[in-house]
Amino acid sequence: MGCWGAVWNGTPFTSAQLRLRPLAESDLPHLVELASDNEVAGWTAAIPHPFSEADGRAYLERAGAESRIVLALETGAAREFIGCLRIDITEGVGDIGYWIGRPYWGRGFGGEALKRATRFAFEDLNVDALDAEVMVGNAASERVLEKAGYAKTSETVGATGRYDGVPVVQYRLDRAGWAERQAAKPTLLVVAVAMVDPDGRVLMAKRPEGKKMAGLWEFPGGKVDEGESPEAALIRELKEELDVDTRESCLAAYTFASHEYEDFRLLMPLYVCRVWKGTPQAQEGQELAWVRPQRMRDYPMPPADEPLIALLCDLL
Ligand SMILES: CC(C)(COP(=O)(O)OP(=O)(O)OC[C@H]1O[C@@H](n2cnc3c(N)ncnc32)[C@H](O)[C@@H]1OP(=O)(O)O)[C@@H](O)C(=O)NCCC(=O)NCCS
Repeated sequence: MGCWGAVWNGTPFTSAQLRLRPLAESDLPHLVELASDNEVAGWTAAIPHPFSEADGRAYLERAGAESRIVLALETGAAREFIGCLRIDITEGVGDIGYWIGRPYWGRGFGGEALKRATRFAFEDLNVDALDAEVMVGNAASERVLEKAGYAKTSETVGATGRYDGVPVVQYRLDRAGWAERQAAKPTLLVVAVAMVDPDGRVLMAKRPEGKKMAGLWEFPGGKVDEGESPEAALIRELKEELDVDTRESCLAAYTFASHEYEDFRLLMPLYVCRVWKGTPQAQEGQELAWVRPQRMRDYPMPPADEPLIALLCDLL
């Protein structure tokens, strides 16, 4: 059994597309707007409907209760508040619940928040197991739980709040199950390049709408295919993404990023390239920008890329 009872000091943390942080007074208008929707509240045990500003204030107050952690979920790109996830811990077992505002459904946010919060609960809060209860018929919620590794333990009748007397499905993920998933996580090799122009600016590309991590800025590059060298992959990606030609001798290995995402571990060598043929032109609908490293923090990036900014500031 883990030494449970660890508490969160409120430091925000990230997943690929989200930032998970404490719920704040300033979230109130968005909280009321999104939680007022009965398509959201109606599937939860405790969110009242209708949901007034006073209910919003009560929600904020309850978020501060001992043994409860409430994570406000916001998008990494636009920093929009999109929903909440709570974990109530009793004797080392967390009970997890979540909701996402309807305008944000179906973009992978719910699943990603659950997977990231699950890792947080096992790694940082040191829980022994996590439980969740879902109203029968809530297929989206069952789907996100199953994708996060939770297993159905029973079908029963609920006892709390809106679930009182209605059929529910119970799910659980214990520490052994979680460790097994962690051990099976693949490592993905992705190459990236800082293309540097004569003014010391670096080319950044914004991921287009409809793609995972849409709206986030990243360095050109991509996945290294089976049997391909990182340099060959980069030369290929630059042609495909930007229609520019470069050579292996123009690619200088500079540093690398290593980051744990929820479905894989990313290992990303970063090259620097100052010589290429052609003018970079977006071939895949991405927006391009030449950015001084000192200004890169104004461009929201995937969490794996962020540590590279300081290193590029040193170099350029
Ligand atoms: C459950 C909820 C958090 C999911 O959020 P989300 O951001 O839409 O979730 P994701 O986009 O990560 O994934 C939703 C998954 O459910 C699937 N899904 C959605 N509606 C479905 C349906 N009616 N039948 C089957 N699957 C469905 C989606 O296809 C997706 O699966 P995929 O990743 O394999 O394509 C959101 O719908 C919600 O807040 N619902 C109301 C509150 C709630 O139910 N809270 C949980 C209480 S237990």
